[in-house]
Amino acid sequence: MSIRIVGTGSTLPKKHVTNEELTRLVDTSDEWIRERTGIGGRYVSQGETVTELSASACEKALKDAGKNAEDIDLLLVATCSPETSIPCVACQVQARIGANNAVAFDVNAACAGFLFALHTVYAYMEAGIYKNALIVGAEVLSKIVDWNDRGTCILFGDGAGAVVVEHCEKDGLLGFVQHSDGRKGEVLRCDTRSLVNPFVDRPMEAPYVQMDGREVFAFAVRQVPAGVEELLQKLEMTADDVDLFVLHQANFRIIEGIAKRLKQDVNKFPVNLDRVGNMSSAAIPVLLDELNRAGRLKEGMCIVLSGFGAGLTWGACALRW
Ligand code: UT7
Repeated sequence: MSIRIVGTGSTLPKKHVTNEELTRLVDTSDEWIRERTGIGGRYVSQGETVTELSASACEKALKDAGKNAEDIDLLLVATCSPETSIPCVACQVQARIGANNAVAFDVNAACAGFLFALHTVYAYMEAGIYKNALIVGAEVLSKIVDWNDRGTCILFGDGAGAVVVEHCEKDGLLGFVQHSDGRKGEVLRCDTRSLVNPFVDRPMEAPYVQMDGREVFAFAVRQVPAGVEELLQKLEMTADDVDLFVLHQANFRIIEGIAKRLKQDVNKFPVNLDRVGNMSSAAIPVLLDELNRAGRLKEGMCIVLSGFGAGLTWGACALRW
C-alpha cells in the first residue's frame, strides 16, 4: 500500500514585485539579491488571503485529478501565516470548496510543512483510515515580514499549491524521513500576538520574521543532503537513481550546495525561486504543479522532495511518479 499524487494546482497573487521595486523600500540592489539568493521577483498579496489562495489551488488540483470536492475525506493545509488562529485554514477551505465529507486541519512545520503534511496523509492512508486527500501548502508571508529589514524582506513571497493524493497498491510514495530540532528554533522565528492582558506589564515584541540567515544557510547545506542520503540508503537507492530533486526554494546557492554534496548535476534540481521567491510551505507544491503543467513529470520517474526550515524541521521523500 502506498499513496500517489493524482492532481496538482497552484494560485499566486496578482501582484508581482521585482527586486528593482524593493530598492525603493530598503538599501539593496537587484544585483545583490540575484547574486546572493537567485531571486529576481516574488508575488505579494494585495488582499488575497491564505484561505482564498488555498481554495483556488485546491479547485485546480481537483480538476486536474478528475475528482469532486465531496470525494475528499482528508484536507490538510500546511501554513505558518494563517489569517486566523481559529478556525484553522483547512476548515475554511473545506467550506469554500464544499469538501463536506473531509476532516480538515492545519499543519505548521514552516518550510517543511507541506512535506510533513504529505507524510501525515501517508500514515493515515497506510492505516486504511482515509482514501482521498487534498494537501495544500499556502502562505501570505508578506504580512509577517518586516518591510524595513533588507535581510528578510527580499526573500519571501506569497502563494499556494495543492495536490490531490489517493491510496494505491504499489509505487507512489516509496519512503520518507523527517526530523526536527527545537533547540535551534531561535535562528528563524516569528512571534504571534504578544501577551497583553490586565495582569501583565511587558513591552510588545516585534511580530515579524527574525532570522540569522547564515545559520539557516549552514543548516540547510548540511542537513538536507544528509537527510536525502538517509532516505536513499533506506530505499537502497543512490542519488543517481533520482530523476528530479524538487527542493524547498529558499536560495539558489543552497540548492547548488546541496547538488554538489550529492554529486549531482544542478540541472536535476528545477527552480522557480527566481520568479516567486521563498514561499515557505507553498514552495514545493507550487513548483510541483508548474513542473506537472509543463509536462516535466513523466510516468515512472523517481522524484525526491525535500523541505527544510524554521523549527528547525527538515525531511525528504521519494515518489515514483
Ligand atoms: O526557508 C528558509 C528561510 N531562510 C533562508 O533560506 C535563509 C538562508 N540564508 C540566506 O539565504 C542568506 O544568508 C541571506 C541571503 C539571507 C544573506 O546572504 P549572506 O551571503 O549570508 O549575507 P550576510 O547576511 O552575511 O550579509 C553580508 C552583507 C552584510 O553587510 P556587511 O555587514 O558585510 O557590510 C549585510 O548587511 O550583505 C548585507 N546585506 C545586504 N546588502 C544588500 C544583507 N541583506 C542585504 C540586502 N541588500 N538585501
